[in-house]
Amino acid sequence: MKNILVTGGCGFIGSNFIRYLLSLPGFNSTIINVDKLTYAGNPDNLADIDKSFPERYIFVQSDICDMESMTGVFETYEIDAVCHFAAESHVDRSIVEPGAFLNTNVMGTFNLLELSRKHKDRMVLFHHISTDEVFGSLDDKGLFSETTPYDPSSPYSASKAASDHMVRAYHRTYGFPVTISNCSNNYGPYQFPEKLIPLMITNAKAGKPLPVYGQGHNIRDWVYVEDHCKAVWKIMKGGRHGETYNVGGRCEMRNIDVVNILCDTMDRVDPPADGRSRRDLINFVKDRPGHDYRYAIDCTKLQNELDWIPEESFKTGIEKTIRWYLKNEPWVRRVQTGEYRNWIKQQYEDRERAE
Ligand code: NAD
Ligand code: TYD
Repeated sequence: MKNILVTGGCGFIGSNFIRYLLSLPGFNSTIINVDKLTYAGNPDNLADIDKSFPERYIFVQSDICDMESMTGVFETYEIDAVCHFAAESHVDRSIVEPGAFLNTNVMGTFNLLELSRKHKDRMVLFHHISTDEVFGSLDDKGLFSETTPYDPSSPYSASKAASDHMVRAYHRTYGFPVTISNCSNNYGPYQFPEKLIPLMITNAKAGKPLPVYGQGHNIRDWVYVEDHCKAVWKIMKGGRHGETYNVGGRCEMRNIDVVNILCDTMDRVDPPADGRSRRDLINFVKDRPGHDYRYAIDCTKLQNELDWIPEESFKTGIEKTIRWYLKNEPWVRRVQTGEYRNWIKQQYEDRERAE
């Protein structure tokens, strides 16, 4: 894999993945990061990487749905492997505006598959990043395995399910080298503060209410983002083509327990000025429509075949995450105020002037 196309590399997991790869001893591939820079894409996430790896990190602002522009990327950079993160990723937004999810998650993936097929002779791998949400909702028993039938509930998960099927179909139909990973909920640095954990951290810091849907009894499995990145790289290097691998943190928790632990950890590392517990900010609000009750992942296939296990515990991972958000207050402020959009524009203008 000489020239790896990472899509969506300015988002949460993609930026952590690029940072992880470039920190690996002996990693000498070039990374071409294609990102449209939607509201969730923030090149600020990789500003240091951009400076430190001028030869081996290339950023191209493009929409994966733009076939002409993506044809140029595949040809200019002689792409021989793809790690496809780019997506509309937030369930609540997909309820309000499903069209964007169909375009990017389904048609965008289709475009990348077509271009990869066109360059089949030099393509080593197409790795597709997906979610456990494609499997639908569990009751109190059982775990999702790689053979659990798909049963998505939201426009987000339905669009991810469609793209998974398409990736698998390209393997079966064209003998194309693909792998897929279906991961549970990630948390860690650089996550846009609309998802549960960064929203709760930033609201708690600002003394704002912490909106918990319903009674907070829904259950998610939480994996620290760096563990996910390690899993993806293991799959890209050693996964069997045509196979799906489930990735999970072995860390199932009710939302209300997540929020309580988060409040208590914040109270400890950043005691509130008024001495009141952040738990007092918890506010139970109207539930999400079609809210899946429980996700839980069986990741023994990944453990048995590729020797991967989640290393970070929730206790240490949540403390690292909280400390990151507290330390990176300017990042949070720029994202919250929308200032990062102007800031990004300014960076490009400055760079163009310098060139
Ligand atoms: P994110 O929303 O933080 O980032 C998505 C990135 O994709 C952004 O940088 C955005 O600008 C880019 N993008 C969106 N549409 C694009 C387009 N049309 N063309 C080019 N770039 C585009 O998402 P994330 O949380 O980092 O998730 C990344 C991937 O991982 C997604 O495929 C998601 O389905 C999957 N996933 C996420 C989680 C999670 O907990 N966050 C869990 C499992 C799987
Ligand atoms: P989220 O981070 O949006 O991820 P996903 O929907 O992909 O699992 O939500 C995680 C859980 O937290 C989910 O059960 C919905 C719940 N939630 C809240 O209770 N309040 C919130 O403000 C948000 C964003 C999510």
